[in-house]
Amino acid sequence: MSEANLAGKVALVTGAGRGIGQAIALRLAHDGAKLVLHYSGSEAGARATLATIQESGGEAIMVQADVCHRSQIQALFGEIDKAFGRLDIVVNSAGVSGGGTLADLDEEQLEWMLGVNLRGPLYVASEAAKRLGEGGRIVNLSSTLAEFPMAGSGIYSATKVAIKSFTESWAKELGRKGVTVNTVIPGATSPGMMDHAPEGALAFFEAASPFGRIGTAGEIADVVAFLASPQASWVSGAHILANGAANS
Ligand SMILES: NC(=O)c1ccc[n+]([C@@H]2O[C@H](COP(=O)([O-])OP(=O)(O)OC[C@H]3O[C@@H](n4cnc5c(N)ncnc54)[C@H](OP(=O)(O)O)[C@@H]3O)[C@@H](O)[C@H]2O)c1
Repeated sequence: MSEANLAGKVALVTGAGRGIGQAIALRLAHDGAKLVLHYSGSEAGARATLATIQESGGEAIMVQADVCHRSQIQALFGEIDKAFGRLDIVVNSAGVSGGGTLADLDEEQLEWMLGVNLRGPLYVASEAAKRLGEGGRIVNLSSTLAEFPMAGSGIYSATKVAIKSFTESWAKELGRKGVTVNTVIPGATSPGMMDHAPEGALAFFEAASPFGRIGTAGEIADVVAFLASPQASWVSGAHILANGAANS
C-alpha cells in the first residue's frame, strides 16, 4: 500500500491520545490522511501525536470531547467542519473496560461503560452519517471479550457485542451512500488497556495465543488502515478478528 493511499482524505480517530487509537491515528497519517485527533483526558498524548504527524509533514488538529455527551460530539464535528469542511474516515476507538461480580454491580461503572462504549460511538456515527459520502469509512473497535466472555467481563463484553450489531445495521443503512462500516476485534493488545489489566491477565492472554504473545497496537492499526483504504471498498458489515488465534 502506498504511503499516499489516503491522500486527500480526512480521518477522525477517537481516543487518539494513547493506546490503540494513537497507533491508528499515526498509521492513517502515514498513509496520507489529514487527521482529527480526538482525546478526552490525554491532552499530552494528543499533543505528542499531533507533533509526530506535523514533524513528518502531515496535517492534523486535536479536539477534546467526552464521548458520553452528545453536545460535545456535536461540537467536535463542528470543529471538523471548520477545519476541513469534509470527512471521509471515522474510527471509533475510544473505549473503557471494567469488571466485577454480579453481586457487586456498580451502577456508576455501568453508566460509564455504557456511555463511553455505546453512546459514544453512536453519537459519533450519527454526526458522521450526515457528512460521509461515496468512499466513506467507519471502523468500530470491538474486543475478543465479545467473542469469548470471561467471568466478570459481562458489561464490557455486552457493549462490545453491541458494537458488532451497530456495524451490521450501519453498514446496511450507509451502504446506500457508498459508505462501508466494519468492526476490528482486537485481542489483548499493548500499548492499550492491557497495560492496566489485572495481575495475571498478561500471562493468561500470552498463553492463549499460539504465538505466545499479545498483539501490538501497530498490528491493530494495520488492519484498520486496510479497512479505511480504497482497496477495502467491497468489505462492509464485516468483523475482522486480530487476536493471534487466541480463541479462549
Ligand atoms: N488494548 C486491548 O487489549 C484491547 C483489546 C480488545 C479491544 N480493545 C478496544 O480497543 C479500543 C482502544 O482501547 P485501548 O487499548 O487503546 O484503551 P486505552 O489505552 O485504555 O485507552 C482508552 C481510550 O479511550 C478514551 N476514552 C476513555 N473515556 C473516554 C471518554 N469519556 N470520552 C472520550 N474518550 C474516552 C481515552 O481517551 P483519553 O485518554 O484522552 O481520556 C483513550 O484514548 C477500545 O474500544 C477497546 O475496547 C482493546
